[in-house]
Amino acid sequence: MSRWLHARGTQLCAALAGALLSVGEAQAQAVNPHPYAMRLPPAQPLSAMARLGERLFHDPRLSASGRMSCVSCHSPAHAYGPPGRASVVLGGPDGRTAGFRAVPSLRYLYRQPPFTIGPDTESGNDQYLSLQQQAQQSLGHLRAVKSAQVPQAAAANLVPQGGLFWDGRVNTLQQEANGPIFNPAEMDGGTTATVVAKLEAYYRQDFETLFGPYLFNNPKLVIDEAMFAIGRYQIESADFHPFTSKFDAWLAGRARFSAAERRGYQAFNDPSKGNCAACHLDQPTPDGRPPLFTDFQYEALGVPRNPEIPANRNPRYVDLGICGPYRTDLRTQTRYCGMFLTPSLRNVATRRVFFHNGVFHSLRQVLEWYVYRDLQPERFYPRDASGHVVKYDDLPPRYRGNVDTVDAPFNRHPGDPPALSEAQIEDVIAFLDTLTDGYPADADHAHSTVRPTAAASIAASSPASDGPATGRWIAEWPSYALRGGAPAR
Ligand code: HEC
Ligand code: HEC
Repeated sequence: MSRWLHARGTQLCAALAGALLSVGEAQAQAVNPHPYAMRLPPAQPLSAMARLGERLFHDPRLSASGRMSCVSCHSPAHAYGPPGRASVVLGGPDGRTAGFRAVPSLRYLYRQPPFTIGPDTESGNDQYLSLQQQAQQSLGHLRAVKSAQVPQAAAANLVPQGGLFWDGRVNTLQQEANGPIFNPAEMDGGTTATVVAKLEAYYRQDFETLFGPYLFNNPKLVIDEAMFAIGRYQIESADFHPFTSKFDAWLAGRARFSAAERRGYQAFNDPSKGNCAACHLDQPTPDGRPPLFTDFQYEALGVPRNPEIPANRNPRYVDLGICGPYRTDLRTQTRYCGMFLTPSLRNVATRRVFFHNGVFHSLRQVLEWYVYRDLQPERFYPRDASGHVVKYDDLPPRYRGNVDTVDAPFNRHPGDPPALSEAQIEDVIAFLDTLTDGYPADADHAHSTVRPTAAASIAASSPASDGPATGRWIAEWPSYALRGGAPAR
């Protein structure tokens, strides 16, 4: 790169060098040299609909046990993620039926696009193809992983993206709430009639005021409207997208990174070190939205099988993510087997359960696995009868080729130096701690003299300012997160 810069010496190069410098500069400073004015979701009082949703969200009476509501698993004190360290939460009528996957945080889902397969097409043409057709188009590409390092390769690859749940099987928060209320391993609410009878007993007045006097003649509609209200609550309440972390304050020029946080941020971004930002995007979007630390895409990382999940006692049970068993429409698209959604890392330090199967219980374990997965696999994976380490043991052998071995830090071989040193692992953890909401405003007056500049400044100077999916979600308020599923234009 530097040779090329010297050889040309044009104005363009000077501009480019300036841009590159400011990235380096931005990353090397305790204070963000390009403070940034964020476009945040509007904060308004909750509508009557959202207030009803809030009460339903917290109401244990809708569950079979009478003791479980959404907050039992999505704890407000833990960024609406799991309150404890159990890999999977117990639910059902007696609170003893185990789930199958780790509970995700419900924060920052407001910009989650619907599930699609393909490169980002600005025109949105892919909306007209069925998922089977989209998957068919991507045949001929050997592996479905994106390669964050090689843009051409990434463009040729058709990668699943968007959707809710670890496998993207649902598109809207409204559809989503349906699952847990009726899921036998969760709230186990029973039949539609049982749940509607409870809603009528406890909420008749509210429902009739909001939805009209004849609503209870149509039980299915009652459930739909209840789910709509719960979705509306998650969209409207600022508590689901507060953007009050130290990192947000740093972006805005209102906080200083400690030395460890600053080094961690650098290692998180550095393509030859953590390379975390290749998938967990950390730059504001060009239109001024704060980064969510996900590219909304799916990857097979090959995390170890978790013996703490009761279902895993059956050796024939495997969770293949996009190709099943909890979604069935892409079962035959075997190159997606093992792929799970890249989660946001905001508030990740409040969790004690990591990855789709909750196999790790501390950020230290997660980071060590990222760094040593391929260097010292024996630390994480069991040995077979003949003593060989079984890498990616939570996938049947025929799908292990789907696992990402291209993107750093996954491109290492035994004997290579680790992507992050022990000290850098600690630094990255310190940086991840800055993503926890609730950093006191004005805790640090470090930069109060500097006025936020236009969104363009950091976006223009960022190497990977936007992921393939984010540019499309520019509608001012995400009505697509409810009902239709398609972005409102
Ligand atoms: C027994 C625990 C439990 C309860 C109760 C529960 N959930 Fe969940 N929730 C989960 C698990 C586990 C997942 C991930 C499942 C998967 O990916 O297959 C999840 C996923 C979600 C997601 C998708 C999040 C994402 O990042 O994609 C939403 C939204 C959600 N739940 C909302 C709710 C609502 C609303 C309620 C109450 C009506 C509720 N949940 C009750 C355990 C629970
Ligand atoms: C190639 C894309 C990619 C890269 C690079 C990457 N991640 Fe991830 N990350 C993912 C995916 C996909 C998952 C979910 C995988 C699963 O559950 O099977 C994940 C999950 C996580 C989780 C668990 C979050 C939760 O809620 O359970 C943490 C923490 C994490 N990543 C941190 C990092 C850090 C730190 C780095 C850099 C060292 C990094 N990631 C690099 C794609 C990536």
